[in-house]
Amino acid sequence: NNYALIMAGGVGSRFWPVSRTEYPKQFIDFFGVGKTLIQSTYERFLKICPPENIFVVTNEIYTHIVKEQLPDLNENQILAEPIMRNTAPCISYGSMKIAQINPNATIVVAPSDHTITNQDAFIAAIEQSLKAASENNCLITLGIKPSRPDTGYGYIQYTGSSLKTDEQIHKVKIFTEKPNLDLAKSFVQSGDFLWNAGIFIWSAKSINEAFSKHLPDMYEIFHQGNGLYNTNNEIEFIGNAYLQCTNISIDFGIMEKADNVYVLPADFGWSDLGTWASIYDIAEHDYVGNAVIPSEKVMMFNSSNCMVNVPKDKLVILQDLHDYIVVESNNTLLICPRSEEQSIKQIVADVKSKF
Ligand code: GDD
Ligand code: MG
Repeated sequence: NNYALIMAGGVGSRFWPVSRTEYPKQFIDFFGVGKTLIQSTYERFLKICPPENIFVVTNEIYTHIVKEQLPDLNENQILAEPIMRNTAPCISYGSMKIAQINPNATIVVAPSDHTITNQDAFIAAIEQSLKAASENNCLITLGIKPSRPDTGYGYIQYTGSSLKTDEQIHKVKIFTEKPNLDLAKSFVQSGDFLWNAGIFIWSAKSINEAFSKHLPDMYEIFHQGNGLYNTNNEIEFIGNAYLQCTNISIDFGIMEKADNVYVLPADFGWSDLGTWASIYDIAEHDYVGNAVIPSEKVMMFNSSNCMVNVPKDKLVILQDLHDYIVVESNNTLLICPRSEEQSIKQIVADVKSKF
């Protein structure tokens, strides 16, 4: 009864020019390992459920990339969204469709753009949660010990009480999505908060019930598709359904409001590849702190702590350069101090308005 729903509709603008609206980060092989982020995600789930139970939700402009990168998926396993409406509609659509196939489904919902270094620990945590989700009416998320007051994450405060069937899965007291910096600092200091990994485990019944309670309009929209999912009429139905959907994430729409949220604290080398800094942190460094991927022709003289990401065959020479990001892709070269990488989002906006 285990299913996976991979969310792959995000844009990833902080990785520009490597990640672009036409070709976002989940479809990129950031580490030069021969596999893109979504391919690694898919492979992880092959160990958890049969291949026919893995579904990918993406924007219709990316379905051709999904088909190319995951050729084993059949048409019905790729859910195409006509417009971007954030993660709540994407999950509601996926859950209704899966429930039509199997009303007793348990589902793991996962982002397509994370890295996980300890695969065995990841699989164990997911299997443990799937079992708990099949036995209880609960919404489970995986919690990661926070290492900094990052405002891009959801924060979870958990309690001492846990599921009767699994004492490691704790009841959540407060779920706060993307707090401001002061709040994030106090959460990290207090020591009893975890980051929401953005990986959710629940039964189709529990999540559909949560939608009917907390986002009833959205529930109605996708509920009307019953009988049309997995048929030739699905695409037309979805085209109209999305026009009526509000733009909201699952975190704001459901997780902050529901009172049956539980967390399994987990440690499997998780990283949300949000910025070049996170790639730099995971990548291999030389002895002066330069991380070079995937090029084989980068020459560096008296240069340190640089993050270089250029095409494999590109010859690049750095002299006396320290703490810089040097990335080239799609005939665009970006050179930016590592400390200024948050401004890349703004740079992209400026570039788009000019070219
Ligand atoms: N299909 C689809 N449609 N996928 C989407 C959409 C959409 O409209 N929007 C985002 N996604 C995908 C992204 O590609 C990504 O894989 C995943 O959904 C999560 O979206 P993000 O936009 O990356 O969310 P976030 O990182 O800001 O926040 C979430 O993840 C954090 C951990 O990485 C939240 O769940 C936070 O609470 C969490 O801490
Ligand atoms: Mg993210």
